[in-house]
Amino acid sequence: MKKITVKDILAKKDSGGKIAMITSYDAIYARLADAAGVDMILVGDSVGNTVLGFESTIPVTIDMMLHHTAAVSRANTQALVVADLPFATASLPQAELVQLCARFMRESGAQAVKIEGGKNMAEKVSAIVDAGIPVVGHIGLQPQQVFKLGGYRSFGKTDAEAELLIEDAKALEEAGAFSIVLEAVRPNAAKAVSQSLKRAASIGIGSGPDCDGQVLVITDVLGLSAEAPKFAKKYAEGSSIFTEAIRAYVSEVREGKFPQVKS
Ligand code: KIV
Repeated sequence: MKKITVKDILAKKDSGGKIAMITSYDAIYARLADAAGVDMILVGDSVGNTVLGFESTIPVTIDMMLHHTAAVSRANTQALVVADLPFATASLPQAELVQLCARFMRESGAQAVKIEGGKNMAEKVSAIVDAGIPVVGHIGLQPQQVFKLGGYRSFGKTDAEAELLIEDAKALEEAGAFSIVLEAVRPNAAKAVSQSLKRAASIGIGSGPDCDGQVLVITDVLGLSAEAPKFAKKYAEGSSIFTEAIRAYVSEVREGKFPQVKS
């Protein structure tokens, strides 16, 4: 099956089509997302709090991200796989950062990397893109900055803050990013940012309907998260469906009903 490419994502933005992105963390989630026809799979560092039991994304390491991205890439047939760069890697010296991104492409099968940061990252993004590595930017709420921020909050509340977001997005686009995640950006500001981008596709999360695409965390979508943000939509009651299935198995074992003797 033909894999979705950066060119396909840019063409979708150009034609006004909406881009569907979802996170995945292993072969099981990737198989589900891929079969559902998503355009892009993000192997987010949200792997930390969704499946690894950490309280934030901060403890997630490069090795963990390589391991999970490789599992996703092995199961994926069609979607464009984006690997998230974990905490503090964005502040590596430029040459080291380019080599790290190259490792993600070589060792994990990712087709692109995502980096948190706005115009402060533009020079490094340009060097990564020059090396042949497609980049997704990430502005608005940057979860890797949560300790510095003192908690989670929304962005783009004032005109001045919206203007800064537009500057960040344009700098990333100019540096060659093909897509930019807007997290927890007020809908009006997200609309203005999206309209200011000529080429790069904006992907919103908790940022209203006027982005070029949307991304959600797969465990929120499937109803498997212990706690989901208010903006997320649950499309299945995964926890209760699976718990019921396991409960049925447990009681059949205890009652001697499974396995059945075949006559
Ligand atoms: O790590 C992640 O899942 C993300 C999304 C929330 C965009 O960065």
